[in-house]
Amino acid sequence: MEALVDRGEIVDGPVHARGLGKPQGYTADLVAKEPLRMRFAIVLAIGILVGAICAMTAATILGQRHAYPKALMRVLKTQLGDARTAALDAGCAGNERRLAILVSLGGDIAHAIPHGDPPDRVFARYVDELQQATIAARDGAADCKAQGEALTRAANACESCHRDYR
Ligand code: HEC
Repeated sequence: MEALVDRGEIVDGPVHARGLGKPQGYTADLVAKEPLRMRFAIVLAIGILVGAICAMTAATILGQRHAYPKALMRVLKTQLGDARTAALDAGCAGNERRLAILVSLGGDIAHAIPHGDPPDRVFARYVDELQQATIAARDGAADCKAQGEALTRAANACESCHRDYR
């Protein structure tokens, strides 16, 4: 009897009773399957963990790649929005500094978001339109109404590029 238990044949009983008729030694496999399942679960857990870490790393790298263009665009948005508000309601007060930022950072778009080599012509044209509009706004500071109109042209250049490239 002990010998049978040792060989796992006691557990073998019900398997045969169900008429599965597995060959001898099958029970030992069945018993051995428990640790196997455990190992499978552990490997699966490790797999999920490693997968998650890789996904996070990839997301971080991709995020960093877009960090500068996104930050640049957000600064442009804030400065353009404030400048247009000032042009409408505040006699363009404080726009000198905002326009200096718009001109200099607007000129960095092609560097922040490279588009082909040589640069995509349409993309370069939008950068140029924005640049011309912000320079016109800066240089026409004496006439607030004209400055507001130039800022509207600048906003249109932003939108044109976003329509095609964003
Ligand atoms: C020549 C093309 C071009 C011009 C001009 C341009 N943009 Fe963009 N903008 C883009 C592209 C491309 C993206 C997407 C960048 C990314 O996700 O990496 C973008 C994204 C943005 C975003 C979203 C940033 C984010 O957090 O995801 C804002 C806001 C924005 N632009 C504002 C502006 C404003 C305001 C102007 C004008 C002053 C402007 N853009 C001019 C091409 C342009």
